[in-house]
Amino acid sequence: MTTLLMVKNLEVKAGKKTLLAVPLFEIQDGEVLGIMGPNGAGKSTFIKALALLETPAHGAIFLKEKDITNDLTLEMRRKFAVAMQQPLLLDTTVFNNVAVGLKLRKLPRQEVKSKVSAWLEKFQISHLAKKQASTLSGGEAQRVNLARAMVVEPDILFLDEPFSALDFPTKAQLLKDIKSIIKQTDTTTVFVSHDLMELRYLSDTLAILMDGELKQTGPTEEVLSSPNASTAAFINEWKSLLS
Ligand SMILES: Nc1ncnc2c1ncn2[C@@H]1O[C@H](COP(=O)(O)OP(=O)(O)OP(=O)(O)O)[C@@H](O)[C@H]1O
Ligand SMILES: [Mg+2]
Repeated sequence: MTTLLMVKNLEVKAGKKTLLAVPLFEIQDGEVLGIMGPNGAGKSTFIKALALLETPAHGAIFLKEKDITNDLTLEMRRKFAVAMQQPLLLDTTVFNNVAVGLKLRKLPRQEVKSKVSAWLEKFQISHLAKKQASTLSGGEAQRVNLARAMVVEPDILFLDEPFSALDFPTKAQLLKDIKSIIKQTDTTTVFVSHDLMELRYLSDTLAILMDGELKQTGPTEEVLSSPNASTAAFINEWKSLLS
């Protein structure tokens, strides 16, 4: 395994308050990493910092050993794709929403068309291509959102609670589909969730973030079966809800 992304002494602040402090953290190439933690723990802050959407007060982020902390060029940002809980779709058709990243990259029209068609098909939303995004159901909108993220073939896919607003059957089907897509494309993925079921299903490794600090990281089942002194109360409460 090779390290794809590495973080050293990362600190994100809001005024004097430290929102996030991560001394050392690595994501391996092809890894699917889950991040779990209480509300306000800093999960979204962490994902934004990793995706270069938030400037850290201290520390450095390396992509394949290259320091990219202050590389705010479009070229670097485009290596990452982010999908959030509420899909922020543009007020245009589904096709145009998925095409936007490719058009920004100035791909030839035919290539845009064939890539968008392929991704609409992978997410089983080809029939929605001409529909206005504003008329979609929640599940359909999230599929469009994920297709838009994946169409640019990102080095890392960041997902911030992408399924939490969906009803169970919709969520279950989308989880299945995204898992197979991540596997097929071998996409390194960072996935924030509150839901132990989702995390178990999707993530190889699990990081528990509390009070802006990573309290435990390891293979998902190992973390869940052997929580440490800092994470036990949080993890066991979740497990008791599921048993
Ligand atoms: N711009 C900001 N200024 C001040 N405080 C902020 C700012 N952004 C986030 N925070 C605070 O930082 C903490 C972490 O927020 P963050 O959104 O990362 O939490 P989270 O783990 O994603 O929570 P949730 O599970 O509710 O999504 C919270 O206490 C939040 O209020
Ligand atoms: Mg959040």
